[in-house]
Amino acid sequence: MAQYVIHGGKPLYGTVNISGAKNAAVGILPAALLVDGVCRIENVPDISDIQLFLDILTRMGASVRMINKTTFELDCSTVRTTSAPHELACKIRASYYLVGALLGRFGKATVAMPGGCDFGVRPIDQHIKGFNIMGANVETINGDIVATTQAPLHGGRVSLDIVSVGATMNIMIAAVLAEGLTIIEPAAKEPHIVDLANFLNAMGANITGAGTDVIKVRGVKRLRGGHYSIIPDQIEAGTYMAAVAAAGGKVRIQNVIPKHLDCISSKLREMGVKITNEGDAVLVESDGHLNKTKVKTNPYPGFPTDMQPQIAVCMTVANGTSMITESVWDNRFRYIGELRRMGANVQVDGKVAVIEGVDKLRGCPVKACDLRAGAAMVIAGLAAEGTTTISEIKYVERGYENIVEKLRDLGADFQRVETPEPPLTVITAG
Ligand code: EPU
Repeated sequence: MAQYVIHGGKPLYGTVNISGAKNAAVGILPAALLVDGVCRIENVPDISDIQLFLDILTRMGASVRMINKTTFELDCSTVRTTSAPHELACKIRASYYLVGALLGRFGKATVAMPGGCDFGVRPIDQHIKGFNIMGANVETINGDIVATTQAPLHGGRVSLDIVSVGATMNIMIAAVLAEGLTIIEPAAKEPHIVDLANFLNAMGANITGAGTDVIKVRGVKRLRGGHYSIIPDQIEAGTYMAAVAAAGGKVRIQNVIPKHLDCISSKLREMGVKITNEGDAVLVESDGHLNKTKVKTNPYPGFPTDMQPQIAVCMTVANGTSMITESVWDNRFRYIGELRRMGANVQVDGKVAVIEGVDKLRGCPVKACDLRAGAAMVIAGLAAEGTTTISEIKYVERGYENIVEKLRDLGADFQRVETPEPPLTVITAG
């Protein structure tokens, strides 16, 4: 067991480097199963979700060679199994991309129902709808998704009922080696969708329209190996921007694509934060005095749901009453209880949170309810007076590379401490 301990109230100064995008990497690694040759992938984030994916691919027979901490050579041509190891695949959400990849390559896939953060019901009916249109039969058997095809997978027009990042990426992966043309609409437009398409095209796929509402995938016979570098993580960058906004300071956030941050930047500017775009960096300056604002989460290019808890922390210390409407997930306010323990004044009614700014948050023991909620607790700890301890940090480490070191380099008083397991209570008969 480990915890974060933050002595808050210190502004942040310096430069931080953003890592490769988690939600692109978790699509690109399974998509490498389609490639008949060696893929060299750079800018892979060093986070536990990625380690798990590399373990899954290795267990399935792929050769995984680490060149350095963020560069890997994968050769999946040696994979013969159509099943992913259940006990590993059930731990992450993105394991569902293995279904698209195995179906595309072998016409058969057995993959555990995905795990991941708990935001209420997380159906995958739209992924299945796409696979069905392409000729696959999909069932759930003993906690596994089992997908099979009688004839080779074929293209088709997939009209999704909602905009889904996961369904768009999964159907795109499955369609790359399928016969004929697959059209996905309305497609999600997140930067990681474009990145996955660029990776697949670099390996020989024929995908057009990624980043628009309509993606067309013309099936090809084979993907060859190649080199690819993953884009910077939009949400990691946004998280550091929110940290500077709430704690105050002046930080250059580098290795970013400022265009991907537009929506986050404009909200933070509205709150009084100065943000200057500098090519592949953004300079963020805040005196910690923030104005109220309203945020509604939406698919890209809207305000990302994965930044909702972090901006909520900024609102807790802003002047006046702010409001958040969460329109992507049913239940993404579970962390608000933890913020209240730190003195935040927040009312939640269904998908709406009303946040009345307070002068200061106060440090206390809190827990990370999920990945982004955990990041929000870190920001709250940095902005708060006194000491904040955060438990359940395994969630944070699923998605943030070296968060402790990166924030310490910016001057935060932040430590990761190992805590002893609580003693077992021995109950004696008598
Ligand atoms: N949905 C359905 N049916 C489906 C798929 C989705 O009803 O078949 C609904 C969901 O319940 C949700 C909405 O559609 O209400 C959007 O879900 P989407 O499929 O876009 O989400 P996802 O692919 O499961 C990814 C990210 C999430 C991020 C969302 C939205 C990965 C591994 N996860 O999830 O990231 O919140 O897109 O942008 O890429 C995170 O990184 O912290 C994280 C949770």
